Amino acid sequence: MATIMLLCVFVLSFAYVHAVSLKKNISYPYAGIRFRLEPKFLLRLRFVFGAGSILQDGYSRFKYKPFKVARNDIDLLVLPAKYIDEIRQYTREQLSGIEALAFNVLGRFNRIDILNKSDLHVRVLRNYLTPNMGQVMPNAQDELTYSWQVDVPKCEDWEEVDIQHVLRWVIGRIYARTFIGYPACRNDDWIQTSLDYTRDVFGLTFLTHCFPKFLHPLVLLLAPASWRLGRHEKHAYKDGEPYTLLGGMLKDAKGLERDMEEIVLRQVISSLASIHTSVMTVTYCLLELCRHPEHIEPLREEAKECMEKEQDWARHSTERLPKVDSFICEVHRMHPPSMLIPQRRVREPFTLSNGENVPIGTQFGFPLGPISHDPQIFSDPEKFDGFRYYRKRVAEDLIGKSSKYMATTPSDEHLAFGHGVQACPGRFFAVNEIKLILVFFLMDYEFKQPERQMASPLHFPFEEYLVLNPTLKLMRRRKKHIY
Ligand code: HEM
Repeated sequence: MATIMLLCVFVLSFAYVHAVSLKKNISYPYAGIRFRLEPKFLLRLRFVFGAGSILQDGYSRFKYKPFKVARNDIDLLVLPAKYIDEIRQYTREQLSGIEALAFNVLGRFNRIDILNKSDLHVRVLRNYLTPNMGQVMPNAQDELTYSWQVDVPKCEDWEEVDIQHVLRWVIGRIYARTFIGYPACRNDDWIQTSLDYTRDVFGLTFLTHCFPKFLHPLVLLLAPASWRLGRHEKHAYKDGEPYTLLGGMLKDAKGLERDMEEIVLRQVISSLASIHTSVMTVTYCLLELCRHPEHIEPLREEAKECMEKEQDWARHSTERLPKVDSFICEVHRMHPPSMLIPQRRVREPFTLSNGENVPIGTQFGFPLGPISHDPQIFSDPEKFDGFRYYRKRVAEDLIGKSSKYMATTPSDEHLAFGHGVQACPGRFFAVNEIKLILVFFLMDYEFKQPERQMASPLHFPFEEYLVLNPTLKLMRRRKKHIY
């Protein structure tokens, strides 16, 4: 009897909470509905592991019209790609990318929503990182060499390595060197804290989103990851040696932005934006190279030629290595960090060109997943073709002349870094760093996937995210002949 009553309370509160949340929304049809009166809570639960097919359903049925998807915490409006150009110029005060991002990772709970208050973290990347790539990249190269010596077990013959763990440290160290400088960057505690922080923010987000919204406070209260988050913040403050933190951030901080605790928090949160996405991209690149080894020699040749021509190629690798660049684009096409990028929260009244008003508080995104597999946009879209973008650039005579179809150039087909004035401000650094690590691997190592994992999926869908399969390993052996 008690169980039945508990079940009734559960179902009624569930229905109530969702009825309330749906009333606020605008009137586009839901994607993925299986039958006319299907309860929304079933749709929401199916979105947890079936977002790919729900988005595909909406994309095929309403390709040129907006539609909605029901997530456990919110109804998201999905806009067709033709609206990308309309939103590009909107600032974070009008349509906010960071507010959407912070909402998705429980920003109110873990304080990531401090990024909504000001764009200091973006200004610093734009003013100090991107223009100084020539100085930053040699340090990154130095840190890569150091990390390889201290973090990676030595081997001369084939040996299995937990590549995701290794790359987290390599990239975590490069991040620390770039952001807090030498010698503070050699503080392993600080790096461990930023890695743990990232793990716990995403872990807690995934766990919480498995449950209906009204249970979120309970999950947040009980989950060990949520107790750890507060500890990470305190730890970062203690170990972060605030006086060495990004000189630029200290220099540019105005008014309330100068609060030291907030500066440290911004620092740790930025590591979340930077490390996790870069680790995923490099891992996918290496795994796709193992599965499509016909790309390895042309990429090696390109890297060798580039290194022979310019000793300090790494300083300006954004424009160099067009084949490696194309490979990264293809990896992002097949494995974008999310199937709904970019996302925005409406902060000021906003009207689409079809005349529809989108109310304040609405969150919307673009269906990057289905766009990337649309045969009308990409020929043979299910095939991994690392030189797809390179061939387009050659065909249109763009090499050395234009950045069109390059990894750092967003377009309505290439949205892995978002789009418009709010596109990822770290993308130039990210692509340089990814190229640096890939070239290092290509020149010094032979690698393959363990036979038993050759058919394993590279990622799993979780809501709109594609989560890198954490079990995947890499076999590697130092090359006999190093170029
Ligand atoms: C392959 C690696 C990366 C990917 C795929 C990626 C992707 C993205 C995406 C999709 C966005 C949202 C853009 C939008 O809404 O239009 C974003 C925002 C952001 N990214 Fe990246 N990113 C990467 C690496 C980095 C790195 C290395 C940094 C730092 C150096 C960084 C810093 C940021 C920051 C600070 C934001 C938030 C900007 C804001 O507050 O408006 N990202 N990134």
